[in-house]
Parts: sequence; structure tokens; C-alpha cells
Amino acid sequence: MAELINIKVNGKNHRVTADPEMPLLYLLRNNLQLNGPKYGCGIERCGSCMVLLNGKAQPSCVIPGAAAAVYEVTTLEGLARNNMLDPIQEAFIEEQAAQCGYCINGMIISAKALLTENKNPTDGEIRQALQRNLCRCGTHTRIIKAVKKAAAKMNK
Ligand code: FES
Ligand code: FES
Repeated sequence: MAELINIKVNGKNHRVTADPEMPLLYLLRNNLQLNGPKYGCGIERCGSCMVLLNGKAQPSCVIPGAAAAVYEVTTLEGLARNNMLDPIQEAFIEEQAAQCGYCINGMIISAKALLTENKNPTDGEIRQALQRNLCRCGTHTRIIKAVKKAAAKMNK
């Protein structure tokens, strides 16, 4: 049965009437029209649906919307500030990290969580942080290069 869910997403408070068990991914995409997070597998295996919950990258496909209401949720759309892209977004564009682009939401969100905690990660640490994110196009080399470039931009 539908319930009122109060949820903070990208710094804004929202009141959504929805099934409390409905995955956060659907709440974001269907109720709030935030289409950055993508549906890939629905079982926490691909990372395309990643969002930040209090700064930690988590798969939104397996978290009920009502359970997410205790967190500050940030989606890809919330990374840009004052019409300026986040340095990670800039670096992904500059390195042409996307092929089809479907995985890129998850890659950027996982990279954001990593670079918030670790300003200068090694290649191994980047690989480890992106372990839950699959890229079927195989652009991993460019993705890792983009994360390193983003770290350099953020350390300037
Ligand atoms: S859609 Fe959530 S991990 Fe694949
Ligand atoms: S760029 Fe296509 S899945 Fe990663």
C-alpha cells in the first residue's frame, strides 16, 4: 500500500506517495524524474544504478525507497554545482571515457565516493573502488585514466 515518503535528494526535500518497498531507483527515476541512475540488473550486480547515500556509493536497485529516507541521497544530477560540472564529470568527458555510456553513472558515483575519501588513489585503489561497476563496452582503461585526471584536477 502506498505511503508518504519524505526524502532528501540532491539537497532538496521531496514528499512522494509510493509503495515503501519500491526500490529507490524507481522512486528517483519515475517519481522524481532523475534519470542519471540506470537500471541494469536489478540485483546489485552491475552498479549502473549507483547513488550516494550520505556520501557512500550504493546500488539504488535493492534499497527500498522508504529505507533510503534516513539518508541524504545524491544522484548524478546532484554533482554539478552552480552550472559547473563536477571535476569527475569533466574528466570523464575530456578522456572520452564513455562508449555507450550506460555504466557511466555508476562509474562516476563510485569515483566520487572514492575521491571524497582518498584524494590521491593508486590505480589499484581505483580498480578496487570500481569493482562493483561493470562496463560491457570495456572502456576500463579510459575510465581509470579519467578518475586519475579527476583526482589531479581536485588536488590543484
Ligand atoms: S541495476 Fe542496480 S546493481 Fe545493477
Ligand atoms: S561505456 Fe558502455 S557499458 Fe560502459
